[in-house]
Amino acid sequence: MKIEKTLHSRIKKMDFNNIDFGNQYSDHMFCSEFKNGKWKNSIIKPFGNIMFSPTSLVFHYGQAVFEGMKAYKDQNEEVFLFRPEENFKRINRSAVRLEMPTIPENIFMNGLKQLINIDRDWIPKNYGQSLYIRPFLIATNGVLSANPSKDYMFMIISTPTDTYYKYPLKIKIEEKYSRSASGGVGFTKAAGNYASSFYPTRLANEKGFDQILWTDSSTHTMIEESGTMNVFFYLKNKLITPKFNDNILSGITCKSILSLAEKEGFFVEKRNVSVSEIIEGLQTGKLKEAFGCGTAAVINYFKTISYKGNDFDLPNLAEEKRISLYFKKILLDIQHNRSEDPFGWRVQL
Ligand code: PLP
Ligand code: COI
Repeated sequence: MKIEKTLHSRIKKMDFNNIDFGNQYSDHMFCSEFKNGKWKNSIIKPFGNIMFSPTSLVFHYGQAVFEGMKAYKDQNEEVFLFRPEENFKRINRSAVRLEMPTIPENIFMNGLKQLINIDRDWIPKNYGQSLYIRPFLIATNGVLSANPSKDYMFMIISTPTDTYYKYPLKIKIEEKYSRSASGGVGFTKAAGNYASSFYPTRLANEKGFDQILWTDSSTHTMIEESGTMNVFFYLKNKLITPKFNDNILSGITCKSILSLAEKEGFFVEKRNVSVSEIIEGLQTGKLKEAFGCGTAAVINYFKTISYKGNDFDLPNLAEEKRISLYFKKILLDIQHNRSEDPFGWRVQL
């Protein structure tokens, strides 16, 4: 792979005490092109603008998929990725559904590891902070007919991050709009899934909600996920999460919490979760906690869930009694190499 290092690092301008998610990018980026049926021209070069034809399919028909993952430092400034092979597999599941070429493992992994190594000074040192990594695949040619592109570009960029949502969330169970539908692309990280959620999310924000709790598109009676998070409910002493289906992104954080919870001896259920049982749990006090989880979000608990214009507050538990924060600490300890790694999730660079 070709490596062109920058002569003008921007690291001195980076204020690690004031991290603004997605507004500062590390010095380099990785690019690899798919042309004439072959992957070629892999390169790490200075972060900068890219130029494509205005006919590129990504601009017209949204042939674009992405991933979100993080690199962490431990107290000795050793660097670790968290379950990168899961992101590798998921971007290729997304690519297949969007009729895009899959990315070979060596291109994804070598590009990722070398890029993060070169930009390791951009990984914040503090516990809970990390370097958010954004691999993405876009369709770069087109002839304006609605057919899949022949050419593609796979890129990786990164941005230092703190946590994404900074407060307990007030969320609204959605009854009108949908993020995904059965048979669609909800299980993928297709760019369009996010574009289509912006309008209903803005409407919810204007009514004072931080996020939408998405429900199934045909009946709006079953819970799916929220914002950029999978969701968990601590109901009647069981930790419950909606079973992954083709409407729900199979979150790596969610899968990790499920493994940790089972190991810790919690009663765990991965199953269909109805709106009515959540509302009943809120009314009877049997729903002790509800929280969302994801790479950017980490783990964030909900303070209020609203349904049909009624706000239901969750119990105001002390932080040390919260199962959400209990798992957040276990997860961050593993990610920052502060504890054993019983499942072999860390990959040291
Ligand atoms: N659901 C959606 C829609 C997301 O965008 C994300 C974030 O990636 C998640 C769930 C959580 O997935 P993960 O834990 O793999 O980041
Ligand atoms: C992630 O958590 O990785 C996401 O994809 C969230 C992102 C849309 C900011």
